[in-house]
Parts: sequence; C-alpha cells; structure tokens
Amino acid sequence: MRIDIITIFPQMFDGIFNNSIISRAVDKGKVEIQLHNLRDFSDDKHKRVDDYPFSGGGGMLMKIEPIAKCIDFLKAHRNYDEIFYTSPDGELLDQQLINSYSTLGNIIILCGHYKGIDERIRQHYITKEFSIGNYVLSGGELAAAVFVDAVARLIPGVLGDEMSALSDSFQDGLVAPPAYTRPVDFNGWKVPEILLSGNDKLIAEWKLEQSKLRTKERRPEMED
Ligand code: ADE
Repeated sequence: MRIDIITIFPQMFDGIFNNSIISRAVDKGKVEIQLHNLRDFSDDKHKRVDDYPFSGGGGMLMKIEPIAKCIDFLKAHRNYDEIFYTSPDGELLDQQLINSYSTLGNIIILCGHYKGIDERIRQHYITKEFSIGNYVLSGGELAAAVFVDAVARLIPGVLGDEMSALSDSFQDGLVAPPAYTRPVDFNGWKVPEILLSGNDKLIAEWKLEQSKLRTKERRPEMED
C-alpha cells in the first residue's frame, strides 16, 4: 500500500511513523509513506496556503490552488483508489471501515487545517472523508496518523503473529476479554484459575463468555 500524505506539518509524523508497527510495515516494504509539504505547492511568495473565507465568519480556509496543484502532481504519477480528507464531519471510522481500507493500493490523505478547505476541493478532488471521533482536533495530522496505524497493522505480513489482528477487539463484533500475564499472584490478586488449567476448550469458552459480558457492559450498541 502506498500512502501520500499532504500536510502543512510533515514533522508531526516523525515520531509516529519511525517507531513500532508502522516503521516495521515500512521496513518490510508493506507500506510506503510519502509526506508532501503543502507549502511547497504554493506560488505565493510567502508560501501561504490559507486565505479569508468569502462572507467573513472568522477563521481561515485552506486555499484551493496549492491543494489542487499537489493532488494533480501526485495523480500525474499514479492512479489513486481514494483521496481522503480528514474532517470532523467525515465518516466516523470504525473497524469495518478500517478493514476495507486496508485492502486499498494507492491512497492520498489530505490533512485539514484552519476552518477547513475550500468546498470545491471536497467536490472535485476528495473521494472520501473520515473523522476519528466527534470532537475537533487542531489539525488532521493526528487523524491521518490514527488512520495509517489502524490500516497498516492489518496488512498481511505486518504483525508478527498473523492471528493477532483477527483477535482484536471489534473484529468479531465483540470487545477483547480480560488478559493476564505473570505473576500468577500479585499482592493476593490472582489470575483466574481457568487460564492456568491448560484446557484449551474451556479457556476458549471462558474468553468468549467474558467478551460477551464486556461487550454488554461497555458497548451495548454493538450487541445486535
Ligand atoms: N480534523 C479536526 N478534527 C478531526 C476529527 N475529529 N477527525 C478527523 N479530522 C479532524
């Protein structure tokens, strides 16, 4: 999968993309991430990428020309399956959407800023918009990073244990059961006996039961 990210803060991605699963995915050649500084596509002598909205209303908007120039430049080199825009009013991401996006080949993610972008970009360039939650971030970079992390870990060969993504919370409509590691007894707080029993069938039943209970408690809306 190739991901082109258009941003005014490329440095924001350094720590996130150079560590853990995403850097492993990149090192293994499963994901290629290219960051594009939107200011490089501004013809303005001050490299401005924002302007005042018509009719006032406060706040600035991302200008149309640098974004159009950047996307046109990228599209001249390859075809894209989707051109995403990060926006609090976009489609709310969930595991099902992430699963389907993890099968895409080439994508662009445009990180929003200020009071948003000129509507004509949304109409003529953007094919999908996503939100990571019903709250407003100061920019789309964190949302783009969340998207890349959630998608990259699903690409076959990225996670060491191939099964582990399948047993994640949400993959089967249930949240994960409680999990324990050593020691068996910490200050008198004990690991449930069943997990030490070695009986795979009973353990699987217990985990499913616990997942169901947790889903009922924490995500009752997922139950139907
Ligand atoms: N930009 C600002 N807030 C956002 C959100 N919640 N999701 C995606 N992009 C955003």
